[in-house]
Amino acid sequence: MESQVISKKRVANHGEVLTGNREVNAMLDLVKQETERIESRFLEPACGTGNFLAVILERKLAVVEKRYSKSQLDFERYAVLAVSSIYGVDIQKDNVEHCRQRLFGIFDLVYLRLFKHKTNDDCRAAVRFILEINIVWGDALDFKTKDEPRVPIRFSEWSPVNGSMLKRRDFMLSYLVEKQHQMLLFSDEGNVADLNEPIREYPPIHFLEIAHAQQ
Ligand SMILES: C[S@@+](CC[C@H](N)C(=O)[O-])C[C@H]1O[C@@H](n2cnc3c(N)ncnc32)[C@H](O)[C@@H]1O
Repeated sequence: MESQVISKKRVANHGEVLTGNREVNAMLDLVKQETERIESRFLEPACGTGNFLAVILERKLAVVEKRYSKSQLDFERYAVLAVSSIYGVDIQKDNVEHCRQRLFGIFDLVYLRLFKHKTNDDCRAAVRFILEINIVWGDALDFKTKDEPRVPIRFSEWSPVNGSMLKRRDFMLSYLVEKQHQMLLFSDEGNVADLNEPIREYPPIHFLEIAHAQQ
């Protein structure tokens, strides 16, 4: 039996009742095509331990595996892209840590199963680094981080450039939400991104070097 409540105190303080797997899948099936599009961006503003984000990542990775498992570099590139398109916020620190760990575990399980002793720690570091940035300990109501000093939450748009390069641009969560684009984060057509100037841009970098070069 999956547990949807950790404690009565957490339910009272944070409304924490986690969504069951059957409901998660039924809801995601309403946007099935998007959950199976590797680069489709999802934000869960009260992500808990990641019940929705975990299934989204599993669905995307199933597509990556089906299409790219013959080439390790292609698999790594698209798996990193799948991870980089998933965003979450939660007000409870342990949930955020759990969620990052869980998403990493989902990636690593597939990666190890496919490539065993040939797996590359730089790829793992890239996945961990992106999850550290994309899954935020913050308050989705005032759009600020929870760790001190409390600063506005930023989200990073990760876009592939010339195959193996990744470009990162940071945006303020509050801008994205105020423009009512929370369901359409950084639309692929570029129209959302065009409306919002990034607050920071980084030079493109090889995806396997991302954890070492960008701080
Ligand atoms: C009903 S649970 C849902 C968790 C997850 N989305 C799921 O479906 O399993 C609500 C979550 O929202 C978080 N939460 C409550 N207030 C929040 C806020 N202001 N900002 C971000 N997260 C918040 C809680 O910590 C809890 O994990």
